[in-house]
Amino acid sequence: MLAFKDITTLRVGGTISHFEKIHQMDECISFVKELDEKGSEVLILGGGSNILAEDKVFEGTVVVPTFNTIDMEDDRGRVRVTVDAGVVWDDLVQFSVDHDLWGIENLSAIPGNVGAAPMQNIGAYGVDVSETIEWVEVYDRTLKTKKKLSNTELRFGYRNSLLKEERGRYIVLRVSFMLSKNAQPKLSYKDLALRFGGSTTDVPLVAIREAVIDIRSGKFPSLEEYGTAGSFFLNPILSPEEGVLFKSTYPDAPQFQVENGVKVSLAWILDHVVSAKGMRVGGAFVWDKQPLVIATNTNATGNDVRTLMSELQKKVFEATNIHIVPEVYVMQ
Ligand code: EPU
Repeated sequence: MLAFKDITTLRVGGTISHFEKIHQMDECISFVKELDEKGSEVLILGGGSNILAEDKVFEGTVVVPTFNTIDMEDDRGRVRVTVDAGVVWDDLVQFSVDHDLWGIENLSAIPGNVGAAPMQNIGAYGVDVSETIEWVEVYDRTLKTKKKLSNTELRFGYRNSLLKEERGRYIVLRVSFMLSKNAQPKLSYKDLALRFGGSTTDVPLVAIREAVIDIRSGKFPSLEEYGTAGSFFLNPILSPEEGVLFKSTYPDAPQFQVENGVKVSLAWILDHVVSAKGMRVGGAFVWDKQPLVIATNTNATGNDVRTLMSELQKKVFEATNIHIVPEVYVMQ
């Protein structure tokens, strides 16, 4: 029997009673509708790269959309790329680079499927996916209808969206991206600025993709060797007043002004304030090149990851008074 440890990148979690890959969009809608009418539990999963499962048996049905068409059309100098939820995210980035389309190259090598990208508004190296999303087509399980949500309606924020706020209500079917034919390198994020020496013109699209892949491979565990879900926690956002206090206590900590306050680097806090590197519970441990990441060995359990998560939350709270929140979806 299939288990969460086989289909999630953290590689922990118990067996799944029913598991269904669905290859057609309409079939996916009718399948979920039927399960909803029966009142059985449904979990929609993409690449399984942002979820911490429980060790116990999951009695419901895990549904994995695998429809994977990509359409392109010119629209007033830009190109609208409409992509099914089941496309692997990084295949889409490769596709955009192959077609000389700018906008998502900084998001290279993020695990997961296109359907999950708008949900947590994936972001890396100075770019959030919300910057290129025009609309998302969803099946609304509450109103039992298919609809398109515009970028504004999606209420994107830092690793957040309406789809995440109302988790379980919407099933992402297709995502439409507006990409540019004109070169628009975004190289201001520290790691990329260092790579390209401050040069922002004449940098080929493929060079940016390769640089991002290379930077990431130095920071994140290889999925061939370990389980991981990328950043396990969100970077905390402090109020402007808390930000001032934090800065005076930790003048060296990286921090950034954001709309509603000050975003501080949790990796820095974990490294320099609570010395989290080396912490381990059973088969789960803090990754030593990026302490925002939890990695797992083959013998890890969901409970190991949960216990490590709680220990990290406790340590950070005791040292800084900041309550840190997981970025991954912790099933309960
Ligand atoms: N740092 C340390 N010690 C370390 C590693 C990092 O002190 O061992 C400090 C450094 O000062 C560094 C800073 O942490 O400059 C920030 O590190 P990094 O550039 O890796 O970024 P991050 O804020 O830790 C975020 C995203 C990542 C994304 C990177 C790059 C979140 C939760 N995480 O991490 O996204 O790849 O920026 O843009 O916002 C993910 O969401 O799964 C993810 C991997």
